[in-house]
Amino acid sequence: MQKKSRLGLPNLGFGVGLRTQHLPEILSGGLRVDWFEIISENFMDNSGYTNSVVERLSTDIPIVMHGVSLSIGSASPLNRDYLDKLKKLAGRVNAAWISDHLCWTGLGSHNSHDLLPLPFNEASLKHVTQRVREVQEILERPLIIENPSSYVQFRSSTMTEWEFITELVEATQCGLLLDVNNVYVSAHNHRFDAEHYIRSIPHDHVVQIHLAGPTLCEEYMVDTHDAPVPAPVWELYSLAQTLTGGVSTLLEWDAKIPNYPDLLAELNKARHLMLNGVMPDTLTSTPVASVDKQTVLSTPIDFQLTNIPSNGYKNSYNGAK
Ligand SMILES: [Fe+2]
Repeated sequence: MQKKSRLGLPNLGFGVGLRTQHLPEILSGGLRVDWFEIISENFMDNSGYTNSVVERLSTDIPIVMHGVSLSIGSASPLNRDYLDKLKKLAGRVNAAWISDHLCWTGLGSHNSHDLLPLPFNEASLKHVTQRVREVQEILERPLIIENPSSYVQFRSSTMTEWEFITELVEATQCGLLLDVNNVYVSAHNHRFDAEHYIRSIPHDHVVQIHLAGPTLCEEYMVDTHDAPVPAPVWELYSLAQTLTGGVSTLLEWDAKIPNYPDLLAELNKARHLMLNGVMPDTLTSTPVASVDKQTVLSTPIDFQLTNIPSNGYKNSYNGAK
């Protein structure tokens, strides 16, 4: 039987991460994207205003759930309560799919509030494989796993990250969220060939791509999500879209967040590239270099909501696309 590309999931087009500061403009001025990605944890235990907005948006536009707390690589048991809430939220927003990271975030009751890397070896592969299968059974859908950015490697690793991911996909039939910026970041930090990584993964399981802008902090590339996508990441994106045959594109921008039109202008470079086959001439050529030695590593966990707006937008929502 022929395998279905993207696990039979649709190419949603071009989207952005939904952030609270953009809600007024989105609700009054129109969506102007093809889909939104939400941070799952922001909506699981929250029955407030933003929840009702997202539920309403989900009747007009696809919503994808992106989590930061699954901790698929942890040695602690899976959190059944978390998974039940995840499944309920997926029903409420009619989620196109559910993704999380190939990482661990804590042990027992201790939460590191970071997406920590795994050693890549037979033992960790067996462990993660069993947990992905369990999660997929509970959620009753494929789990979409994102490659993380990383800054350390383990002496106990016996395989590369792309070999680990390929084996994991074969064993579980999970999907992949290919973050081409994370490949670029980790390739810089660990001195591997980013293009080889992208050529080596199982392309028919890639469901979605993440784009973002990193920061060069002395010798390390840091996944800060606070800058335009640099040209080398666009090159990897173009390669990934060619190899996958075209998958959903999501621009992540989570610190120093620009206004909505500027965010869309960056996203529309991806549209331009896919429509015209050439890079726009407004690309940032190299990653932003940090001039601040106090730069703190940001992770998607930092992007969970802290301020839920309490008023103002509901009546101005016009549902425009
Ligand atoms: Fe990402």
